[in-house]
Amino acid sequence: MQLAENLNRLGTETAFEVLARAAELQRQGKDIINLGIGQPDFKTPGHVVEAAVKALRDGHHGYTPANGILELREAVSADLRRRHGVEVHPDTVVIMPGGKPTMFFSILMFGTPATEIMYPDPGFPIYRSMIQYTGAKPVPIVLREQSEFAFSADEVLAQITPRTSLIILNSPGNPTGGAVPKAEVEKLVKGLAGHPHVTVLWDEIYSQMLYDGREHVSLLRYPQIRDRLIVLDGWSKTYAMTGWRLGFSVWPAALVPHVTRLCVNSHSCVNAPTQWAGIAALTGPQDAVIKMVKAFDERRRAIVPMLNQLPGFKCISPGGAFYAFPNVTGTGLSAKELQNRMLEQAGVATVAGTSFGIHGEGYVRFSYANSIDNIRKAIERVGAMLTEQG
Ligand SMILES: Cc1ncc(COP(=O)(O)O)c(C=O)c1O
Repeated sequence: MQLAENLNRLGTETAFEVLARAAELQRQGKDIINLGIGQPDFKTPGHVVEAAVKALRDGHHGYTPANGILELREAVSADLRRRHGVEVHPDTVVIMPGGKPTMFFSILMFGTPATEIMYPDPGFPIYRSMIQYTGAKPVPIVLREQSEFAFSADEVLAQITPRTSLIILNSPGNPTGGAVPKAEVEKLVKGLAGHPHVTVLWDEIYSQMLYDGREHVSLLRYPQIRDRLIVLDGWSKTYAMTGWRLGFSVWPAALVPHVTRLCVNSHSCVNAPTQWAGIAALTGPQDAVIKMVKAFDERRRAIVPMLNQLPGFKCISPGGAFYAFPNVTGTGLSAKELQNRMLEQAGVATVAGTSFGIHGEGYVRFSYANSIDNIRKAIERVGAMLTEQG
């Protein structure tokens, strides 16, 4: 076999490995509580499921345009107007099979061995994986606990070089739950004026999950960068639709033909009934979303004090998403070692911070997409394990 050499540079999402090991332990009869999972533990709202069933019954089972059906792109435009107060032409919206393909395609478009791409660290692992795959130089944007895991606009701007082609930013963030404040966003936008050769990939897939009255400030609100802004969003988290594979992105008009060709060359289009379900999600009642975010907030308020009581743990209150990211350096264990012990000895699945970049050492991600009872039971088990070993 003569495999392409760049395959060796492609990484993965280790969260899936933890899930596989947790499933194996469950098969052996062990009682595992899963706080490793990156998806809501809620059901897709009933009216959304019904819309997909109806679409199939109505005969929507063929190919659709590669960029998505117009009705759905119009619904996305209306949703962006409602949520961010911005005008986005439906022709600049591209429907994707999930949020991930938007990062896959934009990194493919901007990554070459001659370019540098910035990405958040700790951050979603696929960013770095794909940057490496293209041969571009990965330049981490370090996210720090002291700044509540928000990026520093000054640091981002200071790292720009003539070779920087793309800056990837994610707020609210996975794995940290960090949400960037408006002042930092504005500083970044202002600074970008001096670097017209740089494009931004803005991942706001958790934008509807913000707590304590925080407001999501979308980069879409800044017309001065719209011609070099790619926005990644989707239904996976907001509507508990991870397995449906439905996402959308907003592109500068000049890039739409390129991304559309990438879609044609890879998946052709997103399956038709799912697109009709997406319309129902955006245009129907939003009470399921509100209910889910309220539940996440309650769990967030419960899990943070519990984590802070564990010996060697220190956890700030996350501003968004559904992850807590405690500092565990006080346990004396590496993140990976602690992750493995919690899974094997306490039956609690979590994900080591190092799965999200080298700056994740000393941290472990706890997803609170699980019931308060399970969260309490899990933290109690970890507490007992740490005390026993202490
Ligand atoms: C920050 C971030 N972006 C994008 C995605 C991808 O979402 P999807 O499942 O829609 O591909 C995830 C999923 O975990 C994520 O955490």
